[in-house]
Amino acid sequence: MVQPNQSNKYDPFSLVSAEMGVLAKNIASLIGSGHPTLNRVSSYYFEAEGKNVRPLIVLLLSKALSNIPESERTRIIIDQYDVNDQEEFKGTPKAFSFAGQSPLDSISPLRVLHGINPSIVLNPLSKPMMDKKIYEKVDVKNGILPKQRRLSEITEMIHTASLLHDDVVDFSDSRRGRDSGNIAFTNKMAVLAGDFLLGRASVSLGRLRNSEVVELMSTAIANLVEGEFMQLKNTVIQPDLNQIENDNELKSIPEPTGKLSTQIHEYSISTPTSGVITHSENVNAAFQYYLHKTYLKTASLISKSSRSAAILAGCNEDIIENCYQFGRNLGLCFQIVDDMLDYTMTAELLGKPAGADLKLGLATAPVLFAWETKPELGPLIARKFSEKNDVELANRLVEETNGVERTRKLAESYCTEALKNLRQLPESDARSALELLTNSVLTRNK
Ligand code: FPP
Ligand code: FPP
Ligand code: MG
Repeated sequence: MVQPNQSNKYDPFSLVSAEMGVLAKNIASLIGSGHPTLNRVSSYYFEAEGKNVRPLIVLLLSKALSNIPESERTRIIIDQYDVNDQEEFKGTPKAFSFAGQSPLDSISPLRVLHGINPSIVLNPLSKPMMDKKIYEKVDVKNGILPKQRRLSEITEMIHTASLLHDDVVDFSDSRRGRDSGNIAFTNKMAVLAGDFLLGRASVSLGRLRNSEVVELMSTAIANLVEGEFMQLKNTVIQPDLNQIENDNELKSIPEPTGKLSTQIHEYSISTPTSGVITHSENVNAAFQYYLHKTYLKTASLISKSSRSAAILAGCNEDIIENCYQFGRNLGLCFQIVDDMLDYTMTAELLGKPAGADLKLGLATAPVLFAWETKPELGPLIARKFSEKNDVELANRLVEETNGVERTRKLAESYCTEALKNLRQLPESDARSALELLTNSVLTRNK
């Protein structure tokens, strides 16, 4: 599987280094606005490099898919309008018209009102899909389509928007080695910049002219919010659903008027084997909830991006589904390893028994596995480990029950599935690089 002596050849980054090298610059060209302060906040997280793992996967997968003969990539793309070859988006006026005059304008009243030469104002709607020179030199050789490259940028923009919001929600003070957006600017500006990034990501998404991809990626955005809601840190939704507890304060929330009916996900067991819900059914439901939350929070974006990359390549249904499952399995594996490291890292490196998640009230895989054989963990999980010694006791029970080891096994099973998905693609350097990346998720220690 992993061939260390050939690791350079399959180095995930080097295979798409040209594309990765221009990622931040390309994104910057999509997020220019007429407001200088907004520009600073929205480009802030792109200045400090993140791991860029999502665009890396989209690009490598796109390259791997290019090895499928065109004769087998015959899926009809319903939206025929193709923007790949054009220099500019049709219908966008070349000269900058007065702000808002045309529905396609990037609205920049400040600059217009201050008399700044409109021709230098960045209009994201008139941006070509890619730099032609780089396209001819790099993408064509790599087999990566301009739309797939843009998709990789859109994915990172959505991810970054979610980080800006997440740092407000989590009261974080740092991100990517410096002050987080909420600290460096303000909560308000961080939230607005996140919204702005989502808006611009949507513009770029629309320009792909593929409604299936628009639907998928928009669903990924909604999923991020659903995942975040399912995992509200420090906030306990009370059993009566009309109250929430935030930072030890109980708050009543407005009751629904009943005029609208909304669907809810059901995690309690609908048909208990006996009249009462058994312990194992309870644990099972909690595990389902955990995996669903994990999918929404971490795996949805990468799985739907992977699916989109295959759709844009015109692949057949089996390949499209396979790419989706690859992203799903990899994303789940990533987050489960993350949850495991939260236990092992603190114990091994910091010499402390408790990790961050328990302190935040989160019940992840290690403690859920422990709960199976230690029913006394139930009340602790329910009260989000908020009482004195809860965290220490939970840690001890996790240790006694091999909760961490079982979590590793669970992550391994998703890793194995992701590798199986990859093997459905033709053999290539890009596929080997993805295999290497998938395997490295399990061996990472930070
Ligand atoms: C921030 O993203 C952290 C999370 C979204 C939770 C855990 C996610 C991972 C461990 C990586 C997910 C990987 C895949 C394949 C979906 P980040 O760690 O990617 O942050 P960064 O953009 O600053 O590197
Ligand atoms: C990192 O998790 C954050 C996420 C995976 C997504 C957060 C999503 C929202 C705040 C909803 C808003 C979404 C959009 C698209 C605007 P973490 O806190 O576990 O990781 P961290 O330690 O890197 O902060
Ligand atoms: Mg956070």
